[in-house]
Amino acid sequence: MKSRIVVLLILCLTLYQISISCINKQLISPASGVLKSESLNIIPAPTNLSHLLFGILGSEKAWRHRKAYTESWWRPGATRGALFLDKLPSEAWSPTLPPYRVSDDLRGLLINKHDLRASRMVHGILEVMREFAAGDHQQVRWVVMGDDDTIFFVDNIVEVLARLDHTRYFYLGGQSEFLMSGYWFSFEEAFGGAGIIMSYPVAKALAEDMDGCLKRYAYLFSSDNTTKNCIADIGTNLSPQMGSHQIDLLGDISGFLSSHPLSPLLSLHHMDKVEPIFPSRDRFESTRHLMRAAAADQSRMLQQTICHHRQTNWTISIAWGYSAQIYETIFPRSHLQMPLETFKPWSKRRDISLPFYKFNTRAPSIL
Ligand SMILES: *[C@@H]1O[C@H](CO)[C@@H](O)[C@H](O)[C@H]1NC(C)=O
Ligand SMILES: *[C@@H]1O[C@H](CO)[C@@H](O)[C@H](O)[C@H]1NC(C)=O
Ligand SMILES: *[C@@H]1O[C@H](CO)[C@@H](O)[C@H](O)[C@H]1NC(C)=O
Repeated sequence: MKSRIVVLLILCLTLYQISISCINKQLISPASGVLKSESLNIIPAPTNLSHLLFGILGSEKAWRHRKAYTESWWRPGATRGALFLDKLPSEAWSPTLPPYRVSDDLRGLLINKHDLRASRMVHGILEVMREFAAGDHQQVRWVVMGDDDTIFFVDNIVEVLARLDHTRYFYLGGQSEFLMSGYWFSFEEAFGGAGIIMSYPVAKALAEDMDGCLKRYAYLFSSDNTTKNCIADIGTNLSPQMGSHQIDLLGDISGFLSSHPLSPLLSLHHMDKVEPIFPSRDRFESTRHLMRAAAADQSRMLQQTICHHRQTNWTISIAWGYSAQIYETIFPRSHLQMPLETFKPWSKRRDISLPFYKFNTRAPSIL
């Protein structure tokens, strides 16, 4: 085992050296003529948390029961942005929470007056940009919109965004786990609860023509669909993210959380709708418990590791920071990577038939 690790290390080192020498060659080669020394100066600093702007949409009524979710990931002094409420909060505000704003009154603006809520959500993009991405705040590279019951994993979001060029058009987010939600709303949209991530140029273009956007799609009733449509009009489309989770599921989601792919966990949503994710803890305690693991190492959160114990023929599956499953038999990885169907479909409508989910599952009964 040890020698294998050594070999790997040596391989990595060699590759590293090769890539360094390649880069060096490119930089100094006069023949390439592309990368000149002065262009080095304009390579932007790596993206960090200070380049992200968060816009959270909530309602005064639900907020009291949901603030623990926002509080679990918000970092006062480090995360930037605001929570947009439909009216002034009735309680004193805690400094551990994002600052609140009351959403603009849109009644005068819209053709569609019967769905102010959907318009308020979309308009929130303009409102957060107007205040936090103008004037002295020009370092914004990404705008992240979420709900008051979204839990963001901000270090992982930074890690994913740092790989992308924020000066280009990007629209990132998560789709619904429930197949019919994609059909009823859109398979091409980022679901707002999982978080909508836009590069600055997209958010800016959207904000600049917000009135036009809301008027064009005033006949629609879903804010996420309208956002998607307006972004499509700008010229870009969704890049779905494996780690963004709308959690359009009900009941016990432990099976879902225990089979997380090896991609950074970006968000969890609907913790109010599902059962507490840890047995014998309530929803808020469960959230805090999960975030304690995230504080130790966010990058590995939930990621599934599967190994076999040859002496006993057991299989062990670990979702980092969350669960460990032990099977007294050998199961292939491909089998355990399918979530154990501990949960229920999002909609209880009786006319809905299989398949329910956007992924394959395995039944708990045939363990
Ligand atoms: C984030 O990057 C900016 C440069 O854009 C830098 O000034 C700042 O110190 C960085 N912040 C952290 C916390 O690393
Ligand atoms: C979503 O937007 C598309 C494109 O405008 C529209 O055809 C569809 O009906 C909309 N869906 C909903 C649920 O509003
Ligand atoms: C493990 O499985 C192998 C292959 O089926 C079998 O030969 C062996 O006896 C098993 N070992 C135990 C401890 O059950």
